Amino acid sequence: MNLKGQNILVTGASKGIGKSIAMHLLQANARVGIHFNKSKTEAIKIMSEYPLSETFQADLSVAEEVQRLFENTLAHFGSLQTIVLNAGVFLPHPIEEPTATWLEIWRQTMAINLESAGIITKLGIEHFKKQGGGRFIYIGSRAAFRGETEEYLAYAASKGGLTSLARTVARSFGKYNIKAFVVAPGFTQTEMAEEAIRKHGAENLVKELALNELTTPNDIAPLVAFMCSGQMDHATGSTIDINAGSYIR
Ligand SMILES: NC(=O)c1ccc[n+]([C@@H]2O[C@H](COP(=O)([O-])OP(=O)(O)OC[C@H]3O[C@@H](n4cnc5c(N)ncnc54)[C@H](OP(=O)(O)O)[C@@H]3O)[C@@H](O)[C@H]2O)c1
Repeated sequence: MNLKGQNILVTGASKGIGKSIAMHLLQANARVGIHFNKSKTEAIKIMSEYPLSETFQADLSVAEEVQRLFENTLAHFGSLQTIVLNAGVFLPHPIEEPTATWLEIWRQTMAINLESAGIITKLGIEHFKKQGGGRFIYIGSRAAFRGETEEYLAYAASKGGLTSLARTVARSFGKYNIKAFVVAPGFTQTEMAEEAIRKHGAENLVKELALNELTTPNDIAPLVAFMCSGQMDHATGSTIDINAGSYIR
């Protein structure tokens, strides 16, 4: 696959799924905006290995920083063909907690997982309309369809919102040559999933799958690169599940 000539912003590209996506895109000759928040060393390491990349720092829980991220990335690359909305948090907030504490996590989750994606979508649509098209790829979750465990109500709700956002973009802006896709991973071996591996053990997690091994970021990134290539454009609005057969719908 050759993505030469494409400028792509990947949010949360410093670690896990986002990092793997960024590396696959760079290996396919795209120019990639590596967004990070706290993991500066990891982001800079990617940039030092791939001259076609540039790093951008922003805390996506702050609306002004989200807008600045979009503007800085656009100013650097001049145009964007695809935006991969991957950054996210998976924060527990059991209902036994005091309501104020529970609400704090709800709001933080919504700000990072959904509101930031909403702002980038709004700004991205304005840019794509001007340049005659573009693509959004939203990293959703199995949680949006199957539901999550009880302590992750906000996470599941945020991913449901993200899925509806993507579908509405696909329906509403297709005539402007704007496409939107959702990739819905199940349990994937990243830092986000470390706690679950510690708690349940990798063997028990594998028992929930149809396949014999846990999904890794490298099982997800090639699909995103394919979506960026434009060869899936007529599947706009669709969601592709990557959950090792753990939830087939
Ligand atoms: N792992 C799974 O099992 C799984 C399953 C389904 C869906 N997903 C989804 O896949 C996406 C990536 O997850 P992952 O497993 O790769 O997670 P991860 O390894 O924990 O990486 C999360 C990324 O999001 C960024 N991020 C977190 N909070 C941020 C904030 N406030 N502002 C800006 N960036 C922030 C992090 O940046 P810094 O490190 O630089 O702060 C990091 O690059 C998420 O949307 C997640 O919901 C994951």
